Amino acid sequence: MIAIHVLNGPNLNLLGTREPATYGTMTLAEIEVRLRSKAKTAGIDLVFRQSNHEGELVTWVQEAGLLGAGVLLNAGAYTHTSIALHDAIRASGAITIEVHLSNVFVREEFRHHSMISDVAKGVICGFGAMSYELAFDAILPHLSPARA
Ligand code: DQA
Repeated sequence: MIAIHVLNGPNLNLLGTREPATYGTMTLAEIEVRLRSKAKTAGIDLVFRQSNHEGELVTWVQEAGLLGAGVLLNAGAYTHTSIALHDAIRASGAITIEVHLSNVFVREEFRHHSMISDVAKGVICGFGAMSYELAFDAILPHLSPARA
C-alpha cells in the first residue's frame, strides 16, 4: 500500500488560534480530517503527526524513509534552521514535499531561506490548509507501495 506521512513541526498544534490572519482558523485536527478523507478515497495509508521537538521529527523522517513512505513536511520554524532535518531527508531518501500554510516569501526575511527545499521534491506554500491537500496530490505520482 502507498503510504504518506504528514509530519508537522513546532507550534502547529496551536493552529486555529495561532495568528489566524497568517495561518487561518482551521485546526491541525481539522486538516487531518480532510487529509484522511482524501487518503481513504485514494486508498492511501496516512500517518499524521505533530511534534515540537526537532529530534522527534528527525526520527519520523528516518522512519518514513525506511518504509518507503512519502513525507509531507511542515517543519514550522525548523524549516529555516534545521541541518538535522535536511540530513534526515537526504540520508533516509524519503520523498518529501515541503509544506507551509503561509507564503513565507512575503514574510520576514528569516523565513525566506529553507534548509529543506534543496532536498525536497518540491515546495508548496501560501494556500493555507489547502497547501496540505495540494501537496498530497503532488506527491502521489512519485510514490510506490511502502515496504511494511
Ligand atoms: C510555517 C511557516 C514558518 O515560517 C513558521 O515558523 C511556522 C509555520 C507555515 O506553515 O506557514 O511555524 O511553516
